[in-house]
Amino acid sequence: MKVKIGFIGCGGIAGAHMKALKQIEDVEFAAMCDIDGARAEKAAASYGGKVYTDFRRMFDETKIDACFMCIPPFAHKGQEEACIERGIPFLVEKPVHLELESAREIAAKVKKANLITSVGYVLRYFDVVEMAKEMIAKEQVSFALGKYYGGVPGGGEGWYSQKALSGGQLVEQATHIVDMMRYFLGDVEEVFGYKTTGINDKIYKKYDTEDTSTLLLKFKNGSVGNLTCTWLWTGFESGVEVVGKGVIFNYERNTLTVNNFNKKVTHISSLDPMLEEDRAFIKAVADKDASFIKSGYEDAVKTLAVSLKAQESMRTGKPVRL
Ligand SMILES: NC(=O)c1ccc[n+]([C@@H]2O[C@H](COP(=O)([O-])OP(=O)(O)OC[C@H]3O[C@@H](n4cnc5c(N)ncnc54)[C@H](O)[C@@H]3O)[C@@H](O)[C@H]2O)c1
Repeated sequence: MKVKIGFIGCGGIAGAHMKALKQIEDVEFAAMCDIDGARAEKAAASYGGKVYTDFRRMFDETKIDACFMCIPPFAHKGQEEACIERGIPFLVEKPVHLELESAREIAAKVKKANLITSVGYVLRYFDVVEMAKEMIAKEQVSFALGKYYGGVPGGGEGWYSQKALSGGQLVEQATHIVDMMRYFLGDVEEVFGYKTTGINDKIYKKYDTEDTSTLLLKFKNGSVGNLTCTWLWTGFESGVEVVGKGVIFNYERNTLTVNNFNKKVTHISSLDPMLEEDRAFIKAVADKDASFIKSGYEDAVKTLAVSLKAQESMRTGKPVRL
């Protein structure tokens, strides 16, 4: 039986999901929805599906088995609730929301409905990440050091650079590294945040978010952490280092290096993590079994909470408990 998919949002990341889904058997593109009709048309021309500009109309007119939500953070306005009401499993891109209370309410409804959900924390699907998680669990680890350095997406002109639309780099992009730190070390208990501003806003007209954010994290398991992200860099660097007694795990994108001082071993993944993520979601929907999914909605809200609470700390100058 084919799993019929509907997309809400047919922009950049949706295109990557469509490309991955095309490689998975038993997937049918049933509907493409975007408020920009031309984007939905273009996606439908390449992959198939009926074209919509209104997601409610899509749900009313076309039967779908699963929904992919690939919309910007500010645009979450009832799509998840509409899926929950209709019992349609969904994969939603990170960050799941900009308002923590709304995200928590959605998480409670997802749980009550026992709905299969997946969130685009795609790094979790790298085999080297799983390898790192298993190895870290066997060590006496004490701290994690995360980084996410890049340039302002969209040439500094689009929704990314506006706080009210994206939440800023920490919420929108470095959330991947917050999530990796949680994946390796468990839940965060308290966060303290500092920020710098005043460079990018002189260059880009609508830029009104941090240039750099630095977080101090206290984990429930007693470990500590530090994450720094910046939109001042020209290239791209991101990763996490986890340090324990006599061992350093360095994870960067598809590469894990385990350093035991006198022995350093590097593992490089050749997996396409988005293909793995989408395959897991489709299998979960087809088999009605959420166990294939590595990041469900409720867990993703905990990652969102870390970055939003860090920004609260930046505003108040005080550490914030989660
Ligand atoms: N997992 C990853 O590695 C990864 C990578 C890139 C982006 N993302 C995430 O995916 C999301 C989308 O990012 P993008 O780069 O694709 O953005 P984008 O701007 O390229 O595309 C977003 C699309 O959503 C459409 N849209 C906006 N509001 C809508 C609504 N209410 N209903 C239907 N369509 C609507 C826009 O018209 C646009 O076509 C963001 O949350 C981003 O963080 C995740």
